[in-house]
Order: sequence, then C-alpha cells, then structure tokens
Amino acid sequence: MGDNLYKERYSKRGMTEVRPMTAKVGVVPSADGSAIFETGKTKAIAVVRGPRTLHPQHMQNARTGILRVNYGMMPFSVEDRIRPGPNRRSEEISKVAEWALSSVVDLSGFPNTVVDVFIQIPQADAGTRVAGINAAAMALAHAGLPMKEMVSAIGVGKIDKTLVVDLDKYEDSLFHDGEGSTDIPVVMTSRGKEIALLQLDGKISFSEFREVVEMAKKACGDILKVQTRALHEVSGDRLQVTGGDDE
Ligand code: CDP
Repeated sequence: MGDNLYKERYSKRGMTEVRPMTAKVGVVPSADGSAIFETGKTKAIAVVRGPRTLHPQHMQNARTGILRVNYGMMPFSVEDRIRPGPNRRSEEISKVAEWALSSVVDLSGFPNTVVDVFIQIPQADAGTRVAGINAAAMALAHAGLPMKEMVSAIGVGKIDKTLVVDLDKYEDSLFHDGEGSTDIPVVMTSRGKEIALLQLDGKISFSEFREVVEMAKKACGDILKVQTRALHEVSGDRLQVTGGDDE
C-alpha cells in the first residue's frame, strides 16, 4: 500500500475547502436568462433562450417543453488550444448537464417548445461541468422558468489516499501512475438534498464514497448560498429559490 502521497494540498486549502466562488446573474441582457459562476480560475457562463416552438415539428412533445443543453470550452480556455466545435467530451457533458437540469425544471406548461441552455467556458481549471451546471441553474431561474427546486454542483474526489473537495486541474492530474486521482462530479437538489447527477472517474471504496458524497453535500449547501444571493441581487423577492437560507 505505502504512504499517503497527498497529506497536504499544494494550494494550502483545507481538504473540504472550495476555491473562492463568485456568481452573477443577468450578465447577457439580450438573453432570456443568463449567469456567470466562477470557482478559482474556472469560469462558466450560461445563457438561456426560450421557451420557443421547437423545429423540426416531429421532435416536439405535446405534453411538455424540452430542455436542450450545449456545453463548450472556448479555444483558449486552457494552455493547449482546444479545437473549436463539438467533440465527444463536450457532447457527454452537454447530455449529463441536460439530465441534471431537466430533473428540476418543469416545462409542462410549455408544450411543443424548447428551452436552449448554452454553457461556455472561457477559462478552465477543472470542474467546468459543475461550474457550468451552477451557472445554468441560475440562468434558468433568472429566465423565470418554473423550477421544482434549485441544483448546486461540486467536484469531489480522492487524491492518492486523501478525500478532497473541488479539485483543480493540477490536482486532477496528480498520481496517474500510482493509486491515481478519482474525480466525482456531484449535482445536488436544494430542497430534497437528492443527487441529480453523479459521475465517477477512477477508483474508490464504498465507505470512502459515502464520506466524499457527504463532503459534496456540505459544499453544495455553500454553493447554493452563493447562487441564491446572486439571484436575489437582480430580482429581490420575485424569484423563488427553494432550499437556501433565505427560504
Ligand atoms: O472540467 P471538468 O472537470 O468538468 O471535466 P474534465 O474532462 O475532467 O476536465 C478537467 C480539466 O481538464 C478541464 O477543466 C480543463 O482544465 C482540462 N482539459 C484540457 O486541458 N483540455 C481538454 N481538451 C479537456 C479538459
């Protein structure tokens, strides 16, 4: 087994400490809803358009509107330039973000329509899908769409033998030859405290998994406060964000 190689974080952050977070709503005035969410050097912008009639017609659902998410990293968001346009990773992240957000957005009042959510990452230092989902949830609330509850998301994981919250890119890339680092993006609902999405890349024991999900729950509580505060800044009491302190 050997020693634990990651007893202290290189950034001096505590193991359960998230990077500094900021959030702002209404950053794209021409959109129906918009928000930015930042954690450390990772920055995500979400823009919502809709509901509007879905074309082609055969894709419409007469019982409900549908949510469509498009995630993309900007070419210069990381040091090695990324080729513009969709790829397998961006398609996967778009899909999982769509699943997580669809579980809380209620579009049954908008049959045959689509709501488009565009998530763009101008700067990436790991945790872009969770930052993007945090921004998108705020943008959907800002657009005034009915939401059963809010969602908040965080990356947790294991670096060598240590459980940590909010891995950055450097931590994400550590020890790939040893026990490796394990990356677990988690999306939690605000009121039910249920897991709306969880992905797991790496290895972890069941007891460690339970512990790290508890760490994610706590971090999501802090993120929800940041999201709620940003939404209240633009709309006072008009928006109903459930599950936060201000409830
Ligand atoms: O960003 P997230 O943690 O949700 O997804 P990931 O696929 O685990 O990627 C982790 C990080 O790797 C990203 O946030 C980027 O900083 C970096 N990355 C990169 O440098 N080049 C890519 N083509 C994809 C990701």
